[in-house]
Amino acid sequence: MSDKATLEVNGEKHEFPIVVGTEKEVAIDIKTLRSVTGGVTTIDAGYKNTGSCESEITFLDGEKGILRYRGYSIEELAEKADFLEVAYLLIFGELPTKEQHDKFHADIKSKSVVDDDVRKIIDAFPKTAHPMGVLSSLTSALTAFNPSSVNVDSEADMYNSVVKILGKFPVLVAWTMRKKQGLPLDYGSNSLGYVENVLKMMFKQPNEDYVQNKIIVDALDKLLILHADHEQNCSTSTVRIVGSSHAGLFASLSAGISALWGPLHGGANQAVLEMLEAIKEDGGDTKKYMAKAKDKNDPFRLMGFGHRVYKNFDPRAKIIKKAADEVLADLGVEDPILEIAKGLEQEALNDPYFVKRKLYPNVDFYSGIIYRAMGIPTDMFTVMFALGRLPGWIAQWREMRLRKEPIGRPRQLYVGETFRAFKTIDKR
Ligand code: CMC
Repeated sequence: MSDKATLEVNGEKHEFPIVVGTEKEVAIDIKTLRSVTGGVTTIDAGYKNTGSCESEITFLDGEKGILRYRGYSIEELAEKADFLEVAYLLIFGELPTKEQHDKFHADIKSKSVVDDDVRKIIDAFPKTAHPMGVLSSLTSALTAFNPSSVNVDSEADMYNSVVKILGKFPVLVAWTMRKKQGLPLDYGSNSLGYVENVLKMMFKQPNEDYVQNKIIVDALDKLLILHADHEQNCSTSTVRIVGSSHAGLFASLSAGISALWGPLHGGANQAVLEMLEAIKEDGGDTKKYMAKAKDKNDPFRLMGFGHRVYKNFDPRAKIIKKAADEVLADLGVEDPILEIAKGLEQEALNDPYFVKRKLYPNVDFYSGIIYRAMGIPTDMFTVMFALGRLPGWIAQWREMRLRKEPIGRPRQLYVGETFRAFKTIDKR
């Protein structure tokens, strides 16, 4: 293959280098486009063809349905690793040794206490507030309580911010849920594993000991791993772009949480469950909803279906579907919603509209069914996604800072009014 691409603009030919990634992906490097063409720019709404950075963290091949973190397949990591190992892998590039793992966990635990004044902020939110809005605000507020997290000029400063947020974020997640439920806000226990502690913090009743359920611990561990990174998606790109102005880690993460909230992104897991519930309430007629999804005059979309990058099965959806079957069977839960989901999936996979557009179930299609079986309220599903995505956001933010990437600042094509003389208000 040629190592140059030629672009002709106004009769003049310009050459641009072709760069090839380690997985043989090809990109045209247009860094010099504006300078050599005298200001010509590219337009690519939704960045469907634009690579915003070079990254060593996550590889995905949407045609083949491949997802790997730092070279390791998602299937193997979900099967054999724990969430903290995966977090370490994503952030620092290698699987930790036992010593590295223990030190990482100890450092996280040592930073997990949240300033008690954060409770006052939580108290000020109405109980009706959506947990994603609360979580985003609290994460941003952490900057005020930890001002040293903003200026990260060394790897040591960065490490400090990383372990702080990994320690404090699960507390915020649990408190966000407990406040809504009117339960006292408290901590878990440093003697527990990371995921066990999350569960204890979320579910411990004030008058009972919390008993861990291995099935639930394993299922949550797996779900968090499957959500941990997904290269330059909407929320991750947000984290990178906010961080590129050298805003601190917590402020960048808060912006990422807001981006994740939308129903076209992480908010889809809540939307899927609400959709399945609505179909059930409506008599379980999946065909009616398939027709709505295909009707161009109806804004309804089949939530949990389709993906910007996957034009094949989302490999995470395959693992989650199997896990949903197992978890529900292990917990002895019979959920009619699972049957509706399976029916809808079968219909969509055989429907020419979905086949033609390569619309397959995505990560969010089955995850809500497991969350529900674990006793997690529907409006907390996207918060659980955020908890899983936290290491990915951190890894991407850290990579962006270590690579000294320039501030993110896209161009535009102006299509508004040309120059107009100002008219005073009496002349308009
Ligand atoms: N139901 C019905 N039609 C769909 C759907 C769907 N879920 N998804 C895409 N289409 C159609 C769309 O109408 C369009 O049709 P046409 O070519 O006739 O105009 C075609 O498929 C391509 O869709 P698009 O919107 O141009 O594709 P995109 O890459 O911009 O959007 C997406 C990807 C994920 C936003 C979209 O598939 C969608 O809205 N899915 C439902 C929401 C969802 O499940 N989101 C979670 C994504 S995975 C987790 C995450 O990112 O957090």
